[in-house]
Amino acid sequence: MLSRILSVCVFLGVFSAGSSLSCRWMDHKFRQFSKDSFDLLDTMANNSTNITEDAEARHTVALPHELYSQASKAAAEDKVIFTVQILDETMTLFSKNHSAASWEEKTVDNFLGVVSRQADGLRSCIRSHGHKKHNKKLHMSFKRLTHVLQQKGHGAEVWELIRKEIKSRLMRVDQLISSLLN
Ligand SMILES: *[C@@H]1O[C@H](CO)[C@@H](O)[C@H](O)[C@H]1NC(C)=O
Ligand SMILES: *[C@@H]1O[C@H](CO)[C@@H](O)[C@H](O)[C@H]1NC(C)=O
Ligand SMILES: *[C@@H]1O[C@H](CO)[C@@H](O)[C@H](O)[C@H]1NC(C)=O
Ligand SMILES: *[C@@H]1O[C@H](CO)[C@@H](O)[C@H](O)[C@H]1NC(C)=O
Repeated sequence: MLSRILSVCVFLGVFSAGSSLSCRWMDHKFRQFSKDSFDLLDTMANNSTNITEDAEARHTVALPHELYSQASKAAAEDKVIFTVQILDETMTLFSKNHSAASWEEKTVDNFLGVVSRQADGLRSCIRSHGHKKHNKKLHMSFKRLTHVLQQKGHGAEVWELIRKEIKSRLMRVDQLISSLLN
């Protein structure tokens, strides 16, 4: 009997260490920040561009499916590390020349403020040091976005394409993090 109780305890201990990541910031703040970032991205839309109908460009900027599917199977903390990298790379991307983009400076500043607080909040949930976990393929997929921006002269249309792609990436990591919330 005692040994049965013990083995249940060991099982529960291993189970909770492997699956849960208890983090107040994430549980209480993440969803609201995420929603705010989507609202701001929607405000930044330019509905009169046509480039999003350009299938080749869309394909070039899309996040490779396997990156997201690997992240969905990863341990809780690795999901958070993946998300933080997406948020950091997003901030770098939007620091590129966007003088021709359709949005107002104030809106993009607010958006970047929200993303930056999300990244800091999630970083506070990471116990191990995540530097070694920097995902190279994910980094390359953001490099491709920068390259397309340059190639298309940082114009309003290519920025609209990038805005849509970033919204799609942020929606994916929103699902990833939502699966961890207590
Ligand atoms: C652009 O389209 C979106 C979704 O269809 C809509 O919510 C938004 O109000 C539109 N923006 C403008 C400026 O028309
Ligand atoms: C977008 O496409 C529509 C029809 O496909 C066309 O009438 C319109 O002029 C295009 N707009 C731009 C900005 O190219
Ligand atoms: C939207 O994009 C078109 C180019 O497709 C550009 O001519 C127009 O000025 C943009 N609208 C705004 C509000 O920047
Ligand atoms: C930023 O992009 C605009 C639009 O393509 C361009 O006219 C301007 O020269 C660029 N500015 C810099 C500093 O590269």
